Amino acid sequence: MTQTSTSKGNFITFEGIDGCGKSTQVNMLMNAMNLGNKKTILVREPGGTAISEEIREILLHRHLTDICDRTEALLMTGSRSQLTYEVILPNLKKGINVIADRYYDSTLAYQGGGRKINLDWLIELNQFASYDLVPNVTFLIDILPEEASKRKSQEKDRIERAGIDLQVRVRNAYLDLSSRFQGRFVIIDGHDTIENIHGNILAELRRRELFS
Ligand code: ADP
Ligand code: TYD
Repeated sequence: MTQTSTSKGNFITFEGIDGCGKSTQVNMLMNAMNLGNKKTILVREPGGTAISEEIREILLHRHLTDICDRTEALLMTGSRSQLTYEVILPNLKKGINVIADRYYDSTLAYQGGGRKINLDWLIELNQFASYDLVPNVTFLIDILPEEASKRKSQEKDRIERAGIDLQVRVRNAYLDLSSRFQGRFVIIDGHDTIENIHGNILAELRRRELFS
């Protein structure tokens, strides 16, 4: 995927297996950005628009357990194209930063690594769904699936219920993606404390001149 950034805002994405600590870090980064007077919005996938939230319900919470893998991939990317068109691109164009709790690498890791759909096809599908947008930086919060699973004790959604084997494949796929897209990916040790992880993320953003 090539960088097509004609936008003025920065696009920062967070990735990792379920329970890695993404949402915690995304919220902390939002606070830091706002304190620094950097106009920033937060989006999460799947979801983030009226249409995308409806798709999220089908994908995760309606207990429709017989969704086939291809439908899952198409619904994930369908939710993404609506979110990108309706929210992400217009905000970036206005100079507003966008932080995303998951973006298209989730499709490569879960539907590619997890469900074993052809990766090159998914990359093309992602390009279509994202209007060729590429994140400025992607933080992969890397953690052992056993550790992440301990943290997710509350009710699990359909994908989390698929079990640890899926999470192991997804984690390996993320690590492969981080080698393939080295310039964009930053691996963060998710076993560290919440405060240390936050500090590491801010340090990397400063290094890339995306935060001051
Ligand atoms: P995700 O969004 O990746 O599913 P969350 O941020 O919701 O993960 O975190 C899952 C749980 O783990 C929450 O209860 C959260 O407080 C806890 N948690 C997050 N980061 C850490 C960490 N670095 N160490 C210990 N617990 C954490
Ligand atoms: P969510 O509750 O947002 O989980 P988390 O807090 O762990 O991010 O649920 C999103 C689920 O959907 C999660 O299991 C990952 C999965 N997913 C995909 O399989 N493919 C995708 O493209 C996206 C965006 C998410």
